[in-house]
Amino acid sequence: MIIYKTDEEIRAMGESSRIVARILNELQAMIKPGVLTSDLDGHAERRARELGAKPAFKGYRGYPASLCISINEEIIHGIPSPRTLREGDIVSLDFGVLYNGFYGDAARTFPVGHISPQARKLIQAAEEALTKGLAKMVEGNRISDISAAIQEHVEAQGFSVIRAFVGHGIGHALHEEPQVPNFGFPGRGSKIRRGLVLAIEPMIAAGDWDAEILMDGWTAITKDRSLAAHYEQTVALTDRGVEILSVAEEEASRGHLLKEQPYA
Ligand code: MF3
Ligand code: CO
Repeated sequence: MIIYKTDEEIRAMGESSRIVARILNELQAMIKPGVLTSDLDGHAERRARELGAKPAFKGYRGYPASLCISINEEIIHGIPSPRTLREGDIVSLDFGVLYNGFYGDAARTFPVGHISPQARKLIQAAEEALTKGLAKMVEGNRISDISAAIQEHVEAQGFSVIRAFVGHGIGHALHEEPQVPNFGFPGRGSKIRRGLVLAIEPMIAAGDWDAEILMDGWTAITKDRSLAAHYEQTVALTDRGVEILSVAEEEASRGHLLKEQPYA
């Protein structure tokens, strides 16, 4: 069952999501060759608690850290460790918090120093694919319209969409219905209506979409070891249209929210 949110609940979810976005921005500023992934995790957890929030992932189904850090061929759920970031890596950071009873969830892929043109294009494709999906978050459309738009954009560039993991509804639980695949035929699934809050999260690969899980039981990697990128936003459909909730306050006030706004 999909739990639609009131305007008041969406406002509260904006607070949770803004904390996530703010911390992701801080983490982005820490990214450089030589940084330990465990230091990024430590920062995320400490800052969440300072801001009165609880890291959402720690302990979730036994996940051992606050942040998911996935490097290069790692798609998602990479576990922080004493591993260091290296020049030319791409690193996906996925973070969520629980704040005042609501979850916020977001992810971005960042370059570490100079990266290959192919890696840069992959990262950009993941972000753009999310924007394409958002444009379908319109009253009366169906969930798989979002999925199909994401897939089309990714595959048009010669990349592939990871099949084994999907986006999701979000609210008082980190994962609510509906599931939001990043692939599929349009016109299927529930109708989209006001009050729907989703974590849309394209995970894409430069090569094939097959994934496997490392022996740590968490880290998902591409089977062909091709590079992967991940971009996730918590978004809501209100009477003002689709709103990206996981944008830091200072960015929203600078008008980043309006960049490439896909809706009228
Ligand atoms: N953003 C991811 C998700 O929606 C994060 C979950 S990581 C976990 O599933 F460790 F909490 F599972
Ligand atoms: Co998520």
